[in-house]
Amino acid sequence: MQIIRQLGPLRDALRGFRGTNCKIGLVPTMGALHAGHMRLVEEAMAQCDLVVASVFVNPTQFGEGEDLDSYPRQEAADATLLDAAGVSILWAPEVDQVYPDGFATNVSVSGVSTGLCGGSRPGHFDGVATVVAKLFNQIRPDAAFFGEKDYQQLAVIRRMARDLDFTHDVIGVPTVRDQDGLALSSRNAYLSPEQRANAVALPDAMREAAKAIARGGNINEILEGAKSQLLASDFHKVDYFELRNGETLEIMDKFTSPARLLVAAHIGSTRLIDNIAVTQS
Ligand code: PAJ
Repeated sequence: MQIIRQLGPLRDALRGFRGTNCKIGLVPTMGALHAGHMRLVEEAMAQCDLVVASVFVNPTQFGEGEDLDSYPRQEAADATLLDAAGVSILWAPEVDQVYPDGFATNVSVSGVSTGLCGGSRPGHFDGVATVVAKLFNQIRPDAAFFGEKDYQQLAVIRRMARDLDFTHDVIGVPTVRDQDGLALSSRNAYLSPEQRANAVALPDAMREAAKAIARGGNINEILEGAKSQLLASDFHKVDYFELRNGETLEIMDKFTSPARLLVAAHIGSTRLIDNIAVTQS
């Protein structure tokens, strides 16, 4: 695996593969890799001939007071995992290779960015859309892989790709969970052992609410009940616990398919997000 930090060498490395029958896959990440990220890599390896993984802790998607400085960075361990999985290129750009001096452009996707994480993290999705558009242009992949774990992010990227004429595939990959049901996340590393044990309240509340909604219960009552259930556990703040259309992410007050339940809540100083499909039982 080549580790590349500058655009010139990246273009040189990719030039030989373009135009041949080689399908290039891209897996964008911020590093601190776990089995969820590696599931995206496996999918990319299965569908593509050459896989590029990027590791870049993107400063523009972190708000003031968020965890940009403390975000876990472990490039050597990440590189070992990616290499073992068969990745050909690790794109770990220096900041000026993404944001050159005087950088003045912003990619902002309206509609699907509104509410949910877009509400609790103002500007977050502008940072995500801008860096992902840049990664798409830098790599020019045939397919790019994103996790359903960040469901709204996936919707924003799909919209951005359609709107800006990126013609490659955007592939969504189901969430990888720990045995107790907690979604894997780089931010789980912030949890104390006690918080980690209690964090299971989040997927538990989500699954119960999804079942109750599918059975035809009152949506508002179910969502309020689920929030209270979280607040009665170790979670001290719920940013949102909402039912949305699974494709458009529009607010849903009556259950129809496709439906998605999306949650963000704080345990200690850690903010966790999760989501699940609500399907007719
Ligand atoms: P990061 O949080 O590192 O996640 C990289 C990719 O891994 C995202 O597509 C995310 O949805 C996916 N992922 C994370 N946990 C997962 C899990 N448990 N199961 C399946 N997939 C999972 O998301 C970002 O980085 C950034 O916003 C990025 C897109 C790289 C732009 O900076």
